Amino acid sequence: MMKAVTTETLKEASEIIRAGKLVAFPTETVYGLGADATNGEAVARIFEAKGRPSFNPLIVHVAKAEDAARFVEVSDMARTLMNHFWPGPLTLILTLKMDSPISELCSAGLPTLAIRCPSHDAARKLIEGAGVPIAAPSANASGHLSPTSPQHVAKSLEGRVDMILAGGSTTAGLESTVVDLSTGTPTILRPGVITAEDLEPHIGKVDIATKDDGEIKSPGLLLKHYAPSIPVRLNAVDVGKGEALLAFGSIKFMGLKEGGAASTLPEEKFRNLSESGDLYEAASNLFAYLHALDNGDNKAIAVMNIPDQGVGIAINDRLRRAANS
Ligand code: TXA
Ligand code: MG
Repeated sequence: MMKAVTTETLKEASEIIRAGKLVAFPTETVYGLGADATNGEAVARIFEAKGRPSFNPLIVHVAKAEDAARFVEVSDMARTLMNHFWPGPLTLILTLKMDSPISELCSAGLPTLAIRCPSHDAARKLIEGAGVPIAAPSANASGHLSPTSPQHVAKSLEGRVDMILAGGSTTAGLESTVVDLSTGTPTILRPGVITAEDLEPHIGKVDIATKDDGEIKSPGLLLKHYAPSIPVRLNAVDVGKGEALLAFGSIKFMGLKEGGAASTLPEEKFRNLSESGDLYEAASNLFAYLHALDNGDNKAIAVMNIPDQGVGIAINDRLRRAANS
């Protein structure tokens, strides 16, 4: 059942979490499917609801940076990043504490834990109210697009979640940047709106995992992921018959294969991630627009080239996964 965020519904949602059940809630990145991270049965329900392979570890969300030290070893580098980027869309992979009360299902048997402090007000109030850390993957069925609105959650998980806390559309629009601090050089396992360039002034050189080692270190980063139900064609320079267009920047020079200009496409076949070519605007629109174009009338989604720099790296990462189906 879907309920708008109020003091009352936040309290109700906190109680549902404490009772070991599932609440979908808004964060600044995407909607999360939350459960009490210290309750193994509750965490198991997340995997069941998503249809997710259980080897895939989950991010544990805390209300305050200080809370992280109860669960993981907080290195100097981790402290520095927490000070600069928390609360916010940055997930840190850190060594699990021996006496951590976090369910082993969250770490999927790894010696490390993914932890993040979201900046979304409702998310933090929910965690605070529940009084426990909340394990939460994106609130979509496994392999489907990440949800940036409560309607996306309902579409993907209807009947499999005890409550959907509706707090409008998310702002960052892409899942958090995942940085592994548990080994030598800090390594970005999943690019996001916080980029290597944002991190390096604070902690020095940051590596970006290649697709192959990313898959090993972060089992969730399986290539087929974030997938619409229709094919996605990248770096399109024109639009085929029956295709929808996901544009970036000006479409002045975009044509239809069968003749004519792309600007004549009807609304159900056209979205522009950012007319002005702003990569942050594009990131925040990406999943919502893929959802919108992923409808029965379209044969495929043609996506215009997006520069592979800054936040564009994260956008292209998601698009390549969407295309690889
Ligand atoms: O923005 C986000 O991060 C959202 C919101 C809800 O917070 N959550 C999210 O969770 O995207 P999820 O489960 O869809 O993605 C978590 C990613 C997966 O790719 C997983 O493999 C990786 O983090 N991960 C989790 N624990 C890990 C660990 N101990 N070592 C390496 N990678 C890990
Ligand atoms: Mg996900």
